[in-house]
Amino acid sequence: MDIKKILSQMTLEEKAAMCQGADAWHTVAVPHLGVPAVMVSDGPHGLRKINENGNVVKAVCFPTAAGTACSFDEELLESLGDILGQSAQAENVGVILGPAANIKRSPLCGRNFEYFSEDPLLSGRMAGAYIRGVQHQGVGTSLKHYAANNQETRRQSISASISPRALREIYLASFEHAVKSGHPWTLMCSYNKINGTYASENEWLLTDVLRDDWGFDGAVMTDWGACSDHVAGVAAGLELEMPRACDEDDEVLADAVRTGRLPEQVLDRACERMLQLADRVSSGHREEEEFDKGLQHHQARKFARESMVLLKNDNNLLPIRGNKKIAFIGKFAESPRFQGGGSSHINTAETLSALEAVRSVSPVKYARGFETDRDEIIPELVDEAVAIAKDADLAVLFLGLPDLLESESYDRTHMSLPQCQVALLEEIAKVQQNIAVVLHNGAPIVMPWLDKAGAVLEAYLGGQAVGGAVVDVLFGAVSPCGKLAETFPLRMEDTPCHGFFPGDGDRVTYAEDIYVGYRWYDKRHMDVLFPFGHGLSYTTFEYSNLRLSADTYSGGEMTVQVDVTNTGKMYAKEIVQLYVRPETNGFSRPVRELRGFAKLALAPGETGTVTIALDERAFALWREDMDGWYIEPGRYVIEAAASSRDIRLTADITAQTKPVYLPVTMDSTMADAMAIPGADKVLADVCAALDICMGAGGDSLGDSTGEMAAAMFREMPLHAIASFAGGKVTRTQLKAVVDEINQLI
Ligand code: BGC
Repeated sequence: MDIKKILSQMTLEEKAAMCQGADAWHTVAVPHLGVPAVMVSDGPHGLRKINENGNVVKAVCFPTAAGTACSFDEELLESLGDILGQSAQAENVGVILGPAANIKRSPLCGRNFEYFSEDPLLSGRMAGAYIRGVQHQGVGTSLKHYAANNQETRRQSISASISPRALREIYLASFEHAVKSGHPWTLMCSYNKINGTYASENEWLLTDVLRDDWGFDGAVMTDWGACSDHVAGVAAGLELEMPRACDEDDEVLADAVRTGRLPEQVLDRACERMLQLADRVSSGHREEEEFDKGLQHHQARKFARESMVLLKNDNNLLPIRGNKKIAFIGKFAESPRFQGGGSSHINTAETLSALEAVRSVSPVKYARGFETDRDEIIPELVDEAVAIAKDADLAVLFLGLPDLLESESYDRTHMSLPQCQVALLEEIAKVQQNIAVVLHNGAPIVMPWLDKAGAVLEAYLGGQAVGGAVVDVLFGAVSPCGKLAETFPLRMEDTPCHGFFPGDGDRVTYAEDIYVGYRWYDKRHMDVLFPFGHGLSYTTFEYSNLRLSADTYSGGEMTVQVDVTNTGKMYAKEIVQLYVRPETNGFSRPVRELRGFAKLALAPGETGTVTIALDERAFALWREDMDGWYIEPGRYVIEAAASSRDIRLTADITAQTKPVYLPVTMDSTMADAMAIPGADKVLADVCAALDICMGAGGDSLGDSTGEMAAAMFREMPLHAIASFAGGKVTRTQLKAVVDEINQLI
């Protein structure tokens, strides 16, 4: 497509029309210039194509992002993307509306099942891999919801008040990693405002950060209905309003150009990016056969196996071996909850429950135990369940959150399982000591009942084949290998944003700032139920020989290697996590931050080596006073870990980076001025004058006079010195000192 030529042949009205959808799921075509429409469909964990008569076509539902993130496996996400790309080709869909890379600020966010993690590196890397997979198939993606759509409550009107540092280090970083590693063809901006400006009209977000800083070269569309002022949006860097609103929006946009409110080049730029999208999609399009849903079902089972997390396994209760009498209890054994509600809901052709899957593996007895459409203890169901549990060697309880408790469009209000499920567990525990719990939920729950369960397997919303995958893990066909992509707190009240979620009226303050997820619990030395990165295996792993490519760091890429040995009896995979712990003290920083990870498969007795690269960002923080990334010089500890609370090996490294000093002013403190090499000499006379003067204060200030005076001087702004130097230092002299110090920078 000769984009420049087409653009030059388009009328103003045609260009304006390109910036709005043709309907709910298509962009506008310009047939006489050979520009086709592009069809877009949800995503993210299966294809949700809505056809002409409003029906959702049948497709395969894969585990949702909350689960796949626990695989810590970019290859898995890439192959998921690849499969979805093939499906989209077969259905003539040009762009999949996903992945969703919002950070899990609170476990209560109703849409957490669609999001990857509380950690931006993991979230961004998973999203980037997914994007590469889909786009490898010649189909576009729409990375969403940019940015800070961290709650469903008032998501269309709320303004998220977030510091620049928390945005850069946490909320934007997830998108940044995805944009830089995946190069999505489109991006979907969020409904909400950020610091008072709608994402869809936020020039800083859509242009300065996204394009200028990160190099995004695709088109930005709104979330469905997230356009408030179309002209302001296009001016800020928005290309496409979705879905189609009204003809008036086209007219207003064209009129804005006619009247000079919007420069024509800005509309041209938006239109050019839309043409580029049409070009990318049409060049990537192939006439595909129908996709193989049977094969995809097997892949969905495999992905679910790789995503599950074994949270607890006392006395090796799992895997189930030998001829045991087994009771499967709980409605989810028969009809698992395998996906969440809302725009990502897939119309599945097939599902596999654990009850069906277990038939080919072992005889089991089954009792439903509870219903999922209401939270009501049903005595007959409980009695039936207790009876089969009593007679068994092991009871496997399938518990979780019903649809109603967790969905797009609203947030959860608590983190508990329905009472009827907890009551059932308690009754079973009276007659059966061996209880394994399988959980179907999209986000963490609290587990006051944990001591009653010997084993807990977190299956998340594991896609349509989740039942098969659960049976594979329960009976040891494979070892579980997922690790938590989020912290499970002990109580809802412990969560970082408790008290500030979901905000007051149309404003939510991110008071916890950068301390999200494990960054919060670690900083406050809090106990948690299960830490970020936790996940058990049927085997054991030993870490050894942590080595760094250098013991000093001054920029660029370095590598870290660690050997891992499978010291148990079963083939299994291990996820090695690399955290960096700053031992510097100039800025408030998290105790540790995930800076790399790798997964390896090992046979019993086998040793393998993982190599993980670290770059500048592994050490950097966002300095608001510099409006940029900064690596504090000093000591850092590299931690090779099996979880954020299971650090196996450490090694020190010294960052020999250049400290950055900002120019001092009359308002700078003495300490900040003194930090600049050479400033002590410039300030020598001032210090001497202060000493004499404050020393005369004598005992009247108490025993700590010396310390008090020293602390006071350190934090005294230069302008205040004139008041404490007994007339010996004038403001003019101080101004000269400031100039002299600034010469040293
Ligand atoms: C959701 C998006 C989705 C879009 C289209 C919106 O309500 O927030 O994630 O892609 O609808 O269905």
